This record gives sequence, structure tokens and C-alpha cells, in this order.
Amino acid sequence: MAVREVLRMGDPRLLARAQPVEEFDTPELHALLADMQDTMAALDGAGLAAPQIGVGLQVVVFGVEQNPRYPDAEEVPRTVLINPTLTPLANDLEDGWEGCLSVPGMRGVVPRYARLRYQGFDQYGKPIDRSVDGFHARVVQHECDHLIGVLYPMRIRDFRQFGFTEVLFPDEDIGDD
Ligand code: NI
Repeated sequence: MAVREVLRMGDPRLLARAQPVEEFDTPELHALLADMQDTMAALDGAGLAAPQIGVGLQVVVFGVEQNPRYPDAEEVPRTVLINPTLTPLANDLEDGWEGCLSVPGMRGVVPRYARLRYQGFDQYGKPIDRSVDGFHARVVQHECDHLIGVLYPMRIRDFRQFGFTEVLFPDEDIGDD
């Protein structure tokens, strides 16, 4: 269990496609997830994908707890999602601010599907099948993009809405992801 170094944009490993996990409930997979959870917690992130710590597997973790500092932030259940498939449930896209631990200190407005279904497995191989919307849907799309080598700046349409967090939001104390 360790806090791992998070790769930053520019590292070619962040642009690679991740491979599916073939065996569940193994010591290696549990160790990877422990490191990912530790890293995400230490950096106060909303999510983390295995390629961000240099592991090219289709594994993401995410979750946002109710935080008194941000009463408006929607809660997202702590989730381990492996070999995910995403299916949009409507064509409408919604703009929202995103950050990423691999793009520290910055924020940008990214269009995402407002509603989607995601399927996959947890670390024990138990199936996951959820239909979600809003911030939950956004977090899933952001994290799963890491598995196909896509970082959120690659999805930005209006670069006037991309910049340094402390300049964009000088009055808010917000983290990097
Ligand atoms: Ni990210």
C-alpha cells in the first residue's frame, strides 16, 4: 500500500490504450487497487485510473463524499470499476468544469453525456451495472477516458474556458482533481 507518483500530461503512457483485466480477486489486483485508493486519497482526487500511475490496465476508482466545504457537490459512491463499457442514454451533452491529477493546477469546461449506463466488474469479478446522470456520469466518463488515452483537455471545445485553477477560482480552495 503506497501513494504512487501520478504521471502528468506529456507522458506517452497517458495516451496508450489500457488492456482488460483477465483475472479477478488476485493479490496483484488488490495491491494495485490499494495503491490507487491511497494515491487518490492523498491527493484528494475524485477519481484515478490505473494508467495515471503507469499501469496499463482497465481499472478505475472514483468516489466523492459529501464535503461540508462544498454543500452543492453531488455525492458519488466509492466505486472500483474494471473493464468498463459506457453507453450514453441520451444524446444531450452537458458542459461542466473538470480537473485531473495528471493536469495539476488547471480546470477546463468539458462537454459530457448527461446520462449514461456503465457496466463492468469490481475487483472480485462481481458485475456492476448502473444508470447515472449529472456529476456521477461526468466522473465516470472522465476516468474511463484515461483507459483509451484521452485526457480532458483533448475534449475541450472552448479554450477560453480553460486555465489555472487559482486564477479561475481565486476565492475557492479546491484540489487538483
Ligand atoms: Ni483525470
